[in-house]
Amino acid sequence: MEGLGAIAAESPEAFAEFISGQETKGLLRFLTCGSVDDGKSTLIGRLLYDSKLLFEDQLASLRKDSVKHGTVGDDIDFALLVDGLEAEREQGITIDVAYRFFATEARKFIVADTPGHEQYTRNMATGASTADLAVLLVDARNGIQVQTRRHAFIASLLGIRHVVLAVNKIDLVDYAEDRFEEIKAEFDSFAASFDFDSLVAIPLSARFGDNVSTKSDRTPWYSGPTLIEHLETVDVAEDLDLRSFRMPVQWVNRPNLDFRGYSGTISSGVVRPGDEVVVAGSGKTSKIARIVTMDGDLDQGHAGEAVTLTLEDEIDISRGDIIAASESRPEVSDQFAAHLIWMTDKPLYPGRPYLLKSGARTVTATVSELKHRIDINSFEHLAAKKLDLNEVAFCNLSLSAPIAFDPYESNRETGSFILIDRLTNATVAAGIIWFGLRRATNIHWQALDVNKQARAALKGQKPAVLWFTGLSGSGKSTVANTVERKLLAAGHHTYLLDGDNVRHGLNRDLGFTDEDRVENIRRVAETAKLFVDSGTIVLVSFISPFRSERRMARELVEEGEFIEVFVDTPLEECQRRDPKGLYKKAAEGKIKNFTGIDSPYEAPENAEIRLDTTGADPDALAERIVADLKNRGIIG
Ligand code: ADX
Repeated sequence: MEGLGAIAAESPEAFAEFISGQETKGLLRFLTCGSVDDGKSTLIGRLLYDSKLLFEDQLASLRKDSVKHGTVGDDIDFALLVDGLEAEREQGITIDVAYRFFATEARKFIVADTPGHEQYTRNMATGASTADLAVLLVDARNGIQVQTRRHAFIASLLGIRHVVLAVNKIDLVDYAEDRFEEIKAEFDSFAASFDFDSLVAIPLSARFGDNVSTKSDRTPWYSGPTLIEHLETVDVAEDLDLRSFRMPVQWVNRPNLDFRGYSGTISSGVVRPGDEVVVAGSGKTSKIARIVTMDGDLDQGHAGEAVTLTLEDEIDISRGDIIAASESRPEVSDQFAAHLIWMTDKPLYPGRPYLLKSGARTVTATVSELKHRIDINSFEHLAAKKLDLNEVAFCNLSLSAPIAFDPYESNRETGSFILIDRLTNATVAAGIIWFGLRRATNIHWQALDVNKQARAALKGQKPAVLWFTGLSGSGKSTVANTVERKLLAAGHHTYLLDGDNVRHGLNRDLGFTDEDRVENIRRVAETAKLFVDSGTIVLVSFISPFRSERRMARELVEEGEFIEVFVDTPLEECQRRDPKGLYKKAAEGKIKNFTGIDSPYEAPENAEIRLDTTGADPDALAERIVADLKNRGIIG
């Protein structure tokens, strides 16, 4: 086993290779979680130490550091070891989760170590997605915490079926049986609803090694296994071969005209040449011709194997498609119900577009309905208009295009997804799919005989959205109004959607919280799209403070139809004008969430037109816009 310690901070891929190269010992993937000070680092250090994976020089420097820090007397401080590896790892920056590897005579282990405090839930979700078992640490002195409940819940949500409740620091409660039993009973009662396949509580001290790999004589009352014993023997085998065949296509392999193969990792089931398969999505069927690998063709392919499939027929398959058994097809839908774990500071707002990535496929998605948020303590369902960091909710999602999926219960891989922020590219949520929404399959786009081009031609113009954005009092409505007058005078067909007016009718139910503004703009953007379809030049005058929603509005119409006009009047000038007296009220604290005062405005970065109205004549500014429309060929 030499060398394992040295590579303990590298990537899981490197180890997957290492592990498959060894004669098979059985592999258990687990993660450690719990509150921050419950002793995770110490436990992992202890596991590495007890399995003798530390080099002599690492040990010597550890002894030295431990004495220097003086935190644990003459003993070795295992947390220092793990923290040291962490610092090494941080230079790599990109991975959130460090994977550590160790082995005993009976089994090999990959432990996902999820560091950090702030981003804990995110890291935990990342680690949990591939783990078979969770070691949930609690400090015997503190007992079950909110964080313990949260992590147990996330583990169950992410499909982890086996849990160890590690009641750590048992030395600090004098190895008291009744304290252990009390914590165990509390956990059992709230975890009952999760229906874990195995749930074992172990009293231990990571620092002194009690019941980690050797049975402690200081807990004579405990007759269960040590942690290592349990990890070595727990049966987590879940026969993926028994599930329906699924393979998400990672890439289409076409080295020459005679060969066309589809490469990917089989996520579940078994596949053999001659099997009838379907391309989920298009519904096209064919039969497997060959299962090609680097080491020659296979008679059958199993879950977890990377293969290239060739088919008997030439059918259209691209990256992101799922090849599946034709007798049990995945669902295909552009709307489904899912649990979401929100993992970032910036809240989730229904109606805001995100990128959804499932397998090798990426589409745009919005939460169309937040059905309820889940209280981590009571598991009650609460009403919610947005989701904050670490919150979990059940919701409906709506996608820009259908994807193939399975309910998470039947397939963890094809039933899960992540959401990505479109502006920062950060992963913001983990999601698991429960079911597709039937309404999605029953509503079809109605093709109409009279189309946008015909309507626009009759009006002698090209339809467009002139989207005015800027602070309250910046002059959006004044300029938009002047532009419309000029267009009308020239015989054009226009409509002006103005924030104040639309908020009297269609959007009467919305206020000025961030989530309401997102919804405000979503509705107006959809309305603008309908006007464009009618062949009209539609002027939209809303503060529209967020980049995400302006981008969504842009993407709803065709290329060239969206013209963003940034009315870039400085805040001081808007405050000086204060046409409705609102800035004054906001300054006096009589209006909350006022844009520019205590609510943000995200200025456009690439607006087609930028205007500063300070000291400018609205008529001249409007002329500039009309000239621009001519240049673009929207009007003659
Ligand atoms: S948006 O942010 O959701 O796009 P919208 O353009 O519809 O705002 O409405 C802005 C108008 O509402 C302002 O011009 C102002 O007259 C009025 N208003 C009232 N309260 C606020 C507020 N808290 N923030 C901004 N505008 C407000």
